[in-house]
Amino acid sequence: GQRLIVDTDTAGDDSQALLMAALAESIDIEAVTIVAGNVEFDYEVENAKYALDLAGVADSVPVYEGARRPLLKEFDHVDHVHGEGGLGGELFPDTGIPSADGHAVDAIVDVARESPGEVSLACIGPLTNVALAIRREPELNDLLDEVVVMGGAVNTLGNDTPSAEFNFWVDPDAAKIVMNELDVTLVDWGLTVRHGKIGAEDLDRFAEAETPYAEFFTTVTGHAREFSKERLGVDAATQPDTLALACFLNPDLVTEAGTYFVDVDEREGMTRGYSLVDELGITDGEPRTRVVEAVDESTFERMVADMLLHGDP
Ligand code: BDR
Ligand code: CA
Repeated sequence: GQRLIVDTDTAGDDSQALLMAALAESIDIEAVTIVAGNVEFDYEVENAKYALDLAGVADSVPVYEGARRPLLKEFDHVDHVHGEGGLGGELFPDTGIPSADGHAVDAIVDVARESPGEVSLACIGPLTNVALAIRREPELNDLLDEVVVMGGAVNTLGNDTPSAEFNFWVDPDAAKIVMNELDVTLVDWGLTVRHGKIGAEDLDRFAEAETPYAEFFTTVTGHAREFSKERLGVDAATQPDTLALACFLNPDLVTEAGTYFVDVDEREGMTRGYSLVDELGITDGEPRTRVVEAVDESTFERMVADMLLHGDP
């Protein structure tokens, strides 16, 4: 199968993305690396282990703990989005599964070096670990196969501030390094709002289903559904990280994409974390980021349903 490292600040949608990666026959997860972001770090570590355990792969997938803070900036957790602890405010796992020895940054570099060009990286949290891995191994871009990043708000309002999406906002310095130095497929917040929501009908269907994955999903997304009603005015649950993982798992999901120069405003202030996308080629920046502009929403919904109801995305 396709070998994959998942770098995550495991809360709601991260846990579903991990589940999708773990359940997909065609993906072998080499390592899960945890980064500071959504909720308190130790919750994130446990949440990731819980999701892997639920999928039955906790024995074979090592979880490495990484950066507990962004490179330079102060940041805030978003328990108000995902619920206290990150899994809807109801589930606080205590798996007893030990973390792997060693640091997440070393794990990313080591796995990439062991199999040049064969391992891909899915980044579904702030980019601190990945930026540090680039500084540790300047050839990282060549050593990796594909890199998928969930982050940024392309020509649209952000979710954390009006100008920034959460992952880019938390560690804009790291996001800048990653977008400048890796060849990334970018799944941004705007795409999620357009095509990456699970609607009320599906949410209700999953709530009634008695499979362990559907029950997990319902527990985890209840809070996010309420938040989405308030913030976006729609009865749905946004699934940015699951969408990013789905784009990696099933490239046919992507119906439109463009390759542009993308940069990040790392300065403190109103535009901290803003993702600049040079769609018109106005700057001299090298167009190297493949921005996913549209996906087939019904295929995404079907993948999520197949995962939750049949354990097979
Ligand atoms: C991103 O921020 C987090 O809250 C989600 O897990 C996702 O990675 C969306 O902006
Ligand atoms: Ca995330």
